[in-house]
Amino acid sequence: MKKLILAIETSADDTSIALVKGNDILAMKTHSQIEEHAKFGGIIPEMASRYHSKNIFDQIKLVMKDTEHSLENIDAIAVTIGPGMVNTLQVGMTIAKTLSYKLMVPLYGINHIEAHAFSPFIGGDIIVDKSLIIIASGGHTNIIAMKKLFEYEMLGQTKDDAIGEAYDKVAKIIGLNYPGGPLIDKISAENNNISKIKFPKPKVIGYDFSYSGLKSKALQLKEKKEFTNEEIATGFQVAAVKQLIDKIKLAIKEFNFKNIILGGGVTANSYLRSEINKIKDVNVFFPKLMYTGDNAAMIGYLASKKISKKKIKKSSLDIDAEPRMRMS
Ligand code: KG4
Ligand code: ZN
Repeated sequence: MKKLILAIETSADDTSIALVKGNDILAMKTHSQIEEHAKFGGIIPEMASRYHSKNIFDQIKLVMKDTEHSLENIDAIAVTIGPGMVNTLQVGMTIAKTLSYKLMVPLYGINHIEAHAFSPFIGGDIIVDKSLIIIASGGHTNIIAMKKLFEYEMLGQTKDDAIGEAYDKVAKIIGLNYPGGPLIDKISAENNNISKIKFPKPKVIGYDFSYSGLKSKALQLKEKKEFTNEEIATGFQVAAVKQLIDKIKLAIKEFNFKNIILGGGVTANSYLRSEINKIKDVNVFFPKLMYTGDNAAMIGYLASKKISKKKIKKSSLDIDAEPRMRMS
């Protein structure tokens, strides 16, 4: 029997709640704190946890109102336990534990990055065979081989800034608001993603990434005043996406991957999407735009898949947050 799962995500600045059954998202409500943090140019962790605490019950009530279910119908609770900010994770986890205890239903702790990885499949079945997973978000840039269902090998990751973090920092340098990713994407698209500037090639080997060099270059360019903000934004986007595409092509060549699965906030990027779709002889799986950023649907969906395939253990009520949790 398909379980009715209440999913909770509070790892960063989105308070997100979803009700999931089988492959389907019955309802999802997300309160974004972007406006609160934008004036500071990035997420302030203590403020984030206070806003989660303030808003989480409204989101739960809205989700329940949207469906014909009441809390008593819930069969299980799924919650993000990491990676993320410890004090924001704890807000969601405390609510999850309390509901699990009171409703006498099992609690399942979920890895946020792993949930991003399966977000393209929400609503349907997971594809495993010969799959390469790319995580591109504000906190992570990973290239991962799927060995078997829920078994992974990390091929490479960023040595410094995550790609989304670099987008946000470059945006700040050229005077754009947080989060800068969507704004840089828009500017670069207006320039047809054609760059007048050559950004440095990252000094990393194999499948690792480096984004801090691109950010430093953007800063130098801004100080020299030779190029406009729009030209810097475009040059950065072209170089940032090229780095990802080059590593993906390298991995396809070496390991013969047939499926490319992408997740995380940066996978909303229009140029990244068009460049990946140009790669021949592979199937590409992007999340729907509503599931690119942080959301509870992906947490509930992964929990649902793991429960049905008996690939997850119940968490105990003394489970702790794992701010540095890894996927493999
Ligand atoms: O996955 P996410 O919501 O949060 C983390 O788990 O980190 O990703 C947020 C990141 C931010 O850095 C934001 O600027 C970036 O995703 N982002 C984009 C775009 N939309 C969001 N970056 C580039 N292009 C976009 N269209
Ligand atoms: Zn995320």
